[in-house]
Amino acid sequence: MRVRISNSYFDMSSAAAKLIASQLRNKPDSVLGLATGSTPLGTYRELARMHKEEGLDFSLVRTFNLDEYYGIGPDHPQSYHYFMNENLIKHVNIDPRNVHLPDGLAKNIEESCRRYEDSIKERGGIDVQLLGIGRDGHIAFNEPGSSLGSRTRLKTLIQETVSDNARFFKTLDEVPRFAITMGVGTILEARHIILLASGGEKADAVKLAIEGPVTTEITASALQLHPKVTAFLDVAAADKLKRKDYYKYVEEMRQKFGQADV
Ligand code: GLP
Repeated sequence: MRVRISNSYFDMSSAAAKLIASQLRNKPDSVLGLATGSTPLGTYRELARMHKEEGLDFSLVRTFNLDEYYGIGPDHPQSYHYFMNENLIKHVNIDPRNVHLPDGLAKNIEESCRRYEDSIKERGGIDVQLLGIGRDGHIAFNEPGSSLGSRTRLKTLIQETVSDNARFFKTLDEVPRFAITMGVGTILEARHIILLASGGEKADAVKLAIEGPVTTEITASALQLHPKVTAFLDVAAADKLKRKDYYKYVEEMRQKFGQADV
């Protein structure tokens, strides 16, 4: 895993956006796996800026989001459909037909999840998957205990996640208790995974994910099994990493030998 530590949230977001932009320039019809949450907002803002000011083209891009709350529709202001539209889709030239999220209102959940997985495969798989991390070390909505081979499915959210998400809803009762989420196994099939983490409240989860044992207790730790992961962290999120000085040294060396963007 490549660990890139930035001095600020802005620098972290710009570095991640730069990587995604270079992916799109190399392969304009890339399939992107996208994430919600506050962490990727800076990356989306930067991508929107690059589209506007530098002509970064999304016309052939296909996107698949990690997850969606179960029980709320795409027009609900807290749905992930709504979030993606507000924070990225409407600011760039993606064809709305190429934007995919799990169906939070699916009647036949199993069938809908299977179709979601099939459509990722039909489009050649995910080239770059963006991920945030929950305070309990989850990726997407793969809560602690999720199988590391899991596929897209309905997941019951743990209390900590429900209360973390409560800040977006008027009352605790309104917070969805279920979500449809890509599985850890689905995520691990992406060709390149970008993990983003910012702020001191993520430092424990980041440490366990990157340097702890691979365990279903911290589903992000499964990323250690993947051949190509880049973790973009700000200093606060990286604070508890044992080898943070080494990771910084690696980046300095890459810079020195012209390998920084590889
Ligand atoms: C939710 C999402 C995750 C996200 C996490 C952290 O659980 N399903 O994909 O990584 O929240 O969100 P934030 O970036 O707001 O801390």
